[in-house]
Amino acid sequence: MRGIPLIQVPTTLLADVDSSVGGKTAVNHPSAKNTIGSFKQPEYVCIELSFLKTLPSRELKSGFIELLKHGLIHDINLFEFIQGQTLEPLNFEFLEEAIFRSCGIKGRVVEQDETETGLRAILNFGHTLGHLIETHAGYGTYLHGEAVGAGMCFAAFVSWHCNELPEKDWERISSYLRKILAPVVLHNLDQDVFRDLILHDKKTQNQAVNFIMLKKLGASFIQYETPVEKLWDEFKNFTALYPEFVELR
Ligand SMILES: NC(=O)c1ccc[n+]([C@@H]2O[C@H](COP(=O)([O-])OP(=O)(O)OC[C@H]3O[C@@H](n4cnc5c(N)ncnc54)[C@H](O)[C@@H]3O)[C@@H](O)[C@H]2O)c1
Ligand SMILES: [Zn+2]
Repeated sequence: MRGIPLIQVPTTLLADVDSSVGGKTAVNHPSAKNTIGSFKQPEYVCIELSFLKTLPSRELKSGFIELLKHGLIHDINLFEFIQGQTLEPLNFEFLEEAIFRSCGIKGRVVEQDETETGLRAILNFGHTLGHLIETHAGYGTYLHGEAVGAGMCFAAFVSWHCNELPEKDWERISSYLRKILAPVVLHNLDQDVFRDLILHDKKTQNQAVNFIMLKKLGASFIQYETPVEKLWDEFKNFTALYPEFVELR
C-alpha cells in the first residue's frame, strides 16, 4: 500500500528507548546489518512498561545498553542517574524516568536531523564495531545491545587513545561497562575480513568510516573519514589490552 500510518507499541526495552523513536526501519542482509530500509515516522508511540515483566533478562540488558548510550553521547546526568541503579528486579520508577530521558535525547537529536545528514549519526556510537560483531558472529549469536556494548567500549577506547577523551572518563566508562558486559568472542577475524565488513556498513564514505567518538563523558562528535586501517590498528590494541571486552580467537 506504499506505506500506511502506524502506531509503535514497543515490547522490549531496546524498542522502548531506541527503535520505536526516530522512524528508522530496515531489514538485515547477510552481508551487512540494516542496509535495506527507509524512514517512516509513526503517528504515535505507546510505551507500556508492564510488557517488560516477561522480557528475558538477556534482552533487558541488551536494551539497557542503548539507554546507556544516550547518556554517554549526550547527557552525563543520565549516565550518573543510571550508574546508581540496578536493572533487576525491575524498578518501574527508575525505568520510567530513564526511558523518558532517553527518548527525550533521541527525539531531540532526530528532530534536528531526521534523515541523518549530520548530527543524527552520533546515535550510531558503538555501532561500527557493533554491526561488525553481529554480522561476523552470525545474527542472533550476540544480541544487538551486547554487540553495541562492546562497540561502545571500543569507540571510547579509541577516543581516549586519540587524546580526545580524558583518561578519567575512559576509566569511569570502562569500569562501568566491565560490570555490565559479558565478553564477546570473535573467530577468524583478520584485517581483510575486518575491512570488508566495515566497508559494507552504511556509515562508510570513500573507503573510510564516519566514526563516532567521545570528547568527554556526555559529549560526542563525528570523526569523518577515519581510515579503516587506523580502526584496525586500534582494534588490535583494544583486543590485546582488553580481552575481557572482545577476545579474538
Ligand atoms: N530502527 C531502529 O532505529 C533500531 C534501533 C535499535 C535497534 N534496532 C534493531 O532492533 C532489533 C532488535 O529488536 P528488539 O530488541 O526490540 O527485539 P526483538 O523484537 O528481536 O525481540 C527480542 C526477543 O524477545 C521476545 N520478546 C519481545 N517482547 C517481549 C516481551 N515483552 N516479553 C517476552 N518476550 C518478548 C521476542 O519474541 C524475541 O524473541 C535489532 O535487529 C536492532 O538492530 C533498530
Ligand atoms: Zn542500536
